[in-house]
Amino acid sequence: MTADSFSLTLPKQIAILPATWRDVMAFHKLEKLCFPQDAWPIWDVFAALTLPSTVRLKAAHGEQFIGFVIGDRRPRQKISWIATFAVHPDYRGQGIGTALLERCEQMLNTPRVRLSVRMSNEPAIRLYKRYGYRVVGTWPRYYKGGEDALVMEKEIA
Ligand SMILES: CC(C)(COP(=O)(O)OP(=O)(O)OC[C@H]1O[C@@H](n2cnc3c(N)ncnc32)[C@H](O)[C@@H]1OP(=O)(O)O)[C@@H](O)C(=O)NCCC(=O)NCCS
Repeated sequence: MTADSFSLTLPKQIAILPATWRDVMAFHKLEKLCFPQDAWPIWDVFAALTLPSTVRLKAAHGEQFIGFVIGDRRPRQKISWIATFAVHPDYRGQGIGTALLERCEQMLNTPRVRLSVRMSNEPAIRLYKRYGYRVVGTWPRYYKGGEDALVMEKEIA
């Protein structure tokens, strides 16, 4: 199965939509659930949902906020960073993460996209590799608890 076919098989009742400051509480709650060690303070979430340099998307199941991605554009460096990205545990394995990432990359519209991920985060690393990201470096002891980060990059153009 290819990344394209994931988005084609996204369940019909799931929508990928723009996220706004109105989503701040739902975003913060889901972030704490998905990143027990690394969740952002709420004011960082608010900033990410309002800064002009960011692309912010949510996955919605009706009124339920079930996933998000924030991309941060650095046009002068011709690069963007995926700043945060998650799907509610009950909704994983259906292509929602891949669809969020795909839409975000399209909207970022920079030649390269980078991200960092905990070395132990196998599901995320598998998704990134399958979707064209490769490891370009490591940041030793970057995360809380002292875990190293893998830095991964995808060339879009
Ligand atoms: C990483 C994360 C966002 C992935 O979200 P997701 O919605 O499960 O992603 P997808 O469904 O697109 O892909 C996950 C798996 O489902 C499979 N899949 C996707 N669509 C599918 C479909 N229609 N049918 C069957 N399997 C499917 C994929 O092949 C993939 O399988 P793999 O793990 O064997 O490679 C999610 O695991 C998460 O939120 N993790 C916690 C937060 C996190 O670590 N974020 C990244 C920080 S860097």
